[in-house]
Amino acid sequence: MGFFDERLAEGRAVLAPMAGFTDAPFRRLCREQGSAWAVTEMVSAKALAGGDERTLAIAAPYPGEPDLVIQLFASDPDDAARAAELLVERFDPVALDLNMGCPVKKIVNKGCGVELMGDPNLAARIVKAMREAGGVPVSAKLRLGWDTVTLDPVADALIEAGVDALAVHGRTAQQKYDGEADWTPIAALAARSPVPVLGSGDVTDGVGARSRMAHGVGVMIGRGALGRPWTFAEVLRGERPSVEAMVRVLVRHAELHVAWYGSEAGLRGLRGHLAKYAMQLDGSGSLRNAFVQVNTVQDVVQALASLGYPVEPRANPPERPAHAHASVDAWANAGD
Ligand SMILES: Cc1cc2nc3c(=O)[nH]c(=O)nc-3n(C[C@H](O)[C@H](O)[C@H](O)COP(=O)(O)O)c2cc1C
Repeated sequence: MGFFDERLAEGRAVLAPMAGFTDAPFRRLCREQGSAWAVTEMVSAKALAGGDERTLAIAAPYPGEPDLVIQLFASDPDDAARAAELLVERFDPVALDLNMGCPVKKIVNKGCGVELMGDPNLAARIVKAMREAGGVPVSAKLRLGWDTVTLDPVADALIEAGVDALAVHGRTAQQKYDGEADWTPIAALAARSPVPVLGSGDVTDGVGARSRMAHGVGVMIGRGALGRPWTFAEVLRGERPSVEAMVRVLVRHAELHVAWYGSEAGLRGLRGHLAKYAMQLDGSGSLRNAFVQVNTVQDVVQALASLGYPVEPRANPPERPAHAHASVDAWANAGD
């Protein structure tokens, strides 16, 4: 059994990659809550191949991060090979993933993301190049197609090229995020595929996740995990956490964020997440307003306390790392 089969057999859901959200602190939190593995934000193979350090920093794991999967967007097999080699050498990921689903213009215009759905041969060559150069399993994350469902020929080309797992967002590129995700073609692919197939789209709770797993499909959760990282624990145990437990997770997220980015960067980068947490709690409008102003973990605690959520920061908050890449000791400290 390979890595993907092994993890999926545990009945866990997987955090879906989301640019702007699935950074190291959020991945860590979701892994703690039961996500089977976690995929980074997408990074450019071309930029990595060109030696861009900022791109490399986006792919950096938190120290000791288990089961790291790094997602690349690429249009050129040579860039993809170079990037794969570099990422494996620097960060030792358990696997790499090829983005074949991003519909954003600036990605598509470079021949990357969902554009690859239109050129299965090229996509297959990229997967092959990543596997050979990286020496680790490679998955690909697709959509159903461009404007109609063309999943099968693309999946077959990737399987032929040796892909180790397929994840499919159940919408076409043209749909972006409109309408409901269609899991029927995904389940049909899973039923005949020799490699594990995961579906993605509109799963928000344990019931939804388990019903899809019953059809032999792995489950990725994206937006349903924003402000609700405990959704992975719900999938495993079928229980919703208490409000106190939710608030503890929220504060931990703020602490991990500061430990990763540094206190002087403040919590600006966490605001998208904080707005999502606010939606899960009573008094969400007031909480959201208060969260817009927060700069420190203590501000978060105070905002929560002012609305009747008493919570203390952890006795031993993680220290600020000198730099994300040099943060091993601080992050070791941040463990429970
Ligand atoms: C803000 C945002 C950013 C995303 N970024 C990526 C990405 O970098 N790579 C990728 O493969 N999919 C990306 N996706 C797609 C998600 O992984 C997922 O397939 C999609 O949101 C549908 O699942 P959901 O309904 O569980 O959110 C992104 C989605 C959102 C909402």
